[in-house]
Amino acid sequence: MIPESFIQDLLHRVDIVDLIDAHVPLKKAGANWAACCPFHNEKSPSFTVSPQKQFYHCFGCGAHGTAIGFMMEYAGMGFVDAVKDLASRSGMQVPEQEGRRQVAHDGPRTTDLVDVMALSAQYFRDQLKSSPKAIDYLKQRGLTGEIAARFGMGYAPPNGLREAPLDYNDPRLVAAGMLKAGDDGRRYDYFRDRVMIPIINPKGEVIAFGGRIIGPGEPKYLNSPETPLFEKGRELFGLPQARSALRETDTAIVVEGYMDVIALAQHGVSNAVATLGTATTTVHVQKLLRQVDRIVFCFDGDSAGRKAAWRALENSLEALPEQKTIGFVFLPDAQDPDSFIREFGKEAFNRLVGQAMPLSDFLLRELGNHCDLSSAEGKAKLVAEAKPLLQKLQTPLLRLQLVKRLAETSGFSQQEVERLCELRSIAPPAPERAPRQSPAATFMRKLIRLILQKPALALRLPLDQLPKGSRESETLQRLVDAVRNADTAAPDYAVLLERLRGNDDDPLLKAAASDLMREPFAEDELESEFVGTLAKFARDAQTDEIETLKAKAQALGLNGLSSEEKTRYVALLSARSTNPGSAPDTPTRDELK
Ligand code: UTP
Ligand code: MN
Repeated sequence: MIPESFIQDLLHRVDIVDLIDAHVPLKKAGANWAACCPFHNEKSPSFTVSPQKQFYHCFGCGAHGTAIGFMMEYAGMGFVDAVKDLASRSGMQVPEQEGRRQVAHDGPRTTDLVDVMALSAQYFRDQLKSSPKAIDYLKQRGLTGEIAARFGMGYAPPNGLREAPLDYNDPRLVAAGMLKAGDDGRRYDYFRDRVMIPIINPKGEVIAFGGRIIGPGEPKYLNSPETPLFEKGRELFGLPQARSALRETDTAIVVEGYMDVIALAQHGVSNAVATLGTATTTVHVQKLLRQVDRIVFCFDGDSAGRKAAWRALENSLEALPEQKTIGFVFLPDAQDPDSFIREFGKEAFNRLVGQAMPLSDFLLRELGNHCDLSSAEGKAKLVAEAKPLLQKLQTPLLRLQLVKRLAETSGFSQQEVERLCELRSIAPPAPERAPRQSPAATFMRKLIRLILQKPALALRLPLDQLPKGSRESETLQRLVDAVRNADTAAPDYAVLLERLRGNDDDPLLKAAASDLMREPFAEDELESEFVGTLAKFARDAQTDEIETLKAKAQALGLNGLSSEEKTRYVALLSARSTNPGSAPDTPTRDELK
């Protein structure tokens, strides 16, 4: 556990505007800063950063969080890494609390590794300039110096990093995967006499390398081992270089190889990325779908390529939201995207991408290939094989479409397919705001906004007097708990957000934060708003109770009231007559805004 007081200090030290602006250029918009949202595709900026409250919020897609949340979402880091990263940027040391579990990756800090990776990459780039052999190889593959530079390509000479301006005994070189330590204690270069392709994360840091042998030979590629900087299943090669093309085309082309990405870029197709010698993971798909609405997998036209496409399909299903599409391109036998675009050109390649096979067609075709659809057994097998796939889908429309087609092919009815696959209904996503709010809900939402803006107010909330049993009351309770349990006396909003991590999908919190971003309460009116809101609610509750008792008394006669009700009625009436704020024309709760 990282102590909360540290998180608070950290969030104070980091300026979220600076941080985000370094990745997503921001423009001033009133008191806030704005940009087109990096987490979804849009033409006009609805991504907003508040310097006062130190959080960001997108009015388009609801993306929302603190500086820590931004690093997690944008750079795909885990919580601990995001904290460490921000800490090191601001020169703070993350304290280790006693008795804690060690973080998975021990040893040198990741930021130290970034430094040696950058120095290595620089050295390899310099070496490329003086290696005619490597230059010829790239030229022969049809690459220009400009593209080589765009991808930061280099050359590792036969003696690796031995002559590089680095300390060869620096343990960070081993931790970063550049050197191996032999049993004899000596060190060996991992990459020798290879064309070097750096893998760069969205922050622009070199986190790993792929090294290609020059000409024929084995192994064709060497890749950095997994290190604290590099986790294969999360990273995509070419993502930072593709960023603007992804935005323009709203499509990500996923290919298998480094050289495919580079060759496509050489021919003007810049929206391609590659998985790194691993199957496409759900994390990959999620990362891409945050930036684009469409993914096209373009794998080699051999059986390995088809297998890779199938794995990609399986891992896409659960990450696939409504409105996003996935397609598959199968290249002619023995072609890969690199050879295809070199032979047939950009237009032919774009045509293939445009005509990609929809996910549902690919799914049904592959399943159909396994099953003899002329027999009853084969048809049953088809449905059985579809079951785990359909169960992964979170989108009712696509699932329904597949169920219909499965029904047609198998001869079962739609209901039978649903029952055989044990499909439970998928709840449509809750709208951000219910169309009509009860006065009590409106009241509690206002309290939520007030507390978000000034968390200390939560401590003065008379929770036992507030209505219970609604989503609003649950959210309020969570807020109060978060403030009460905070280590710090008066957590601010960003600290509160971090405490509520895990509940960050709470639509009420998001809606409240979004309102605050648009229209915060004036600081000097917060106190009177808070007191006034509570007082008004109490008065209105009282008026309601009086009205109810009065109606009952009128209908049944005074004797229709129990003795407690009578006492209460009298007490309420006398309280009202002594309370100047509740004249008979006091607005009712329905008018409470
Ligand atoms: P391919 O064998 O399709 O290579 O491997 P390629 O990209 O077409 O390479 P060129 O065109 O011959 O240079 C696809 C990807 O699989 C991984 C690499 O990431 C490669 O880009 N791979 C392949 C390895 O990691 N090691 C290998 O030995 C081969
Ligand atoms: Mn190739």
